[in-house]
Amino acid sequence: MILVTGATGLSGSAVIREFARQKAPVRALVRNRAIAQAFATSLTVEVVEGDMLRPETLGAALRDVDRVLMISSASKRMVQTQCTFIDSAREAGVRHIVKFSGKESSIGFNPSHFRSTWEHEHIEDYLEHSGLAWTHLRPSQFMQFYLPPAPTAVNVAKGALLLPMENARLSPVDVEDIAKVAFALLHSEGHESKNYDMTGPEALTMTEVVERIAQAIGKPFRYVNIPLEETRQAWLAAGIPSERIDTISEVLSERSRCVESRVFLDTHKAFGVRPTTFAEFARRNAAVFRGESVPL
Ligand SMILES: NC(=O)c1ccc[n+]([C@@H]2O[C@H](COP(=O)([O-])OP(=O)(O)OC[C@H]3O[C@@H](n4cnc5c(N)ncnc54)[C@H](OP(=O)(O)O)[C@@H]3O)[C@@H](O)[C@H]2O)c1
Repeated sequence: MILVTGATGLSGSAVIREFARQKAPVRALVRNRAIAQAFATSLTVEVVEGDMLRPETLGAALRDVDRVLMISSASKRMVQTQCTFIDSAREAGVRHIVKFSGKESSIGFNPSHFRSTWEHEHIEDYLEHSGLAWTHLRPSQFMQFYLPPAPTAVNVAKGALLLPMENARLSPVDVEDIAKVAFALLHSEGHESKNYDMTGPEALTMTEVVERIAQAIGKPFRYVNIPLEETRQAWLAAGIPSERIDTISEVLSERSRCVESRVFLDTHKAFGVRPTTFAEFARRNAAVFRGESVPL
C-alpha cells in the first residue's frame, strides 16, 4: 500500500487526483475527513484520519504501508511534524519514504536565508539517517504561487502582479507535473538514495510571466514592482497569517537578490513527463486570472 500525507494540501491533493485518474489504489492521510470530500467519489482512494505529530493516531494510516510520499505544510512545525512521522513510519514497518522537499532554482540562493529550505535540508538528513530507504523529490517554486488569491500577489481587480521582485527570473514548475512524477516514482523501482530536483521549462522574468497571463486572458496584465513592506501590509490586510507572511518575505527577499534562475528538466525526462510551460498553465487557469472562478 502507498500512503500520501498532506493529502488535502495543494501538492498532496494533486498527487491524489493523479492516483484517481490512473485508477491506482492509494491511502490519503488527512487530519479532517470533512475537508477530503473531493476524494470521496474515487473508488481507489482510501481516506484515513491521523495527525503526523501524534503517533498514537497513525495506526490505521500506517497499517500494511510499504511506501510513503511524505508532505506537510511549510509551517514552523515542519521539522517536528516530519521527523516525528519518520519515526512512526519506521516503527510501523514502512520500507521507503519519498520526501516531498524543495530546491530553489535561483542561482546563488542562500538556503540559510529561507527557513523552509534549511528545514527541508534538516529533514532530508534526518530521513537519510533513519534506516529507511529514502528519495528526495525537490521541486522549485510552484507556478500555482501566481494564482489568486494565494497569497494575493496577483490582483485580479487591478489586472496586475504585485511583487517586490524587481525583474528577477524564476523557473516555476506546475504542481500537476510534480504529481505525475510522484506517481511514476512511487510505481517504479530503483529510486532509493536519489535526489530528484525539478524546475519548470523556462526561466521567466516577472514581465514575461505577466505577458503570458495577458495573452491567456485576452486583456492587459501588468507587473508592478512594489516595496516588500507594502506587500507585507497588503497581505496582512488580506488576512494572511503573519507566520506565512514572514516565510514568504524571506524567500522573496532572497529571490530578488538572485536575479537568474536555472532550468533543470532531467527529472521530467527520467519519468516521461512533458514539462508544462507557463503559457499552458496560464491558459488552463485563464478563468481564475480573470476572476471568474477559484483555483481547484
Ligand atoms: N510553495 C512552493 O512554491 C513550494 C515549492 C517547493 C516545495 N514546497 C514544499 O511543498 C510542501 C507542500 O506544500 P503545499 O503548498 O502542498 O502544502 P499545503 O497546501 O500547506 O498542505 C499541507 C498539507 O499538510 C497537512 N498537514 C500539516 N500538518 C499535518 C499534520 N500534523 N498531520 C497531518 N497532516 C498535516 C495539511 O493538512 P490540513 O489540511 O489538515 O492542514 C495539508 O494537507 C511544503 O513542504 C513546501 O515547503 C513548496
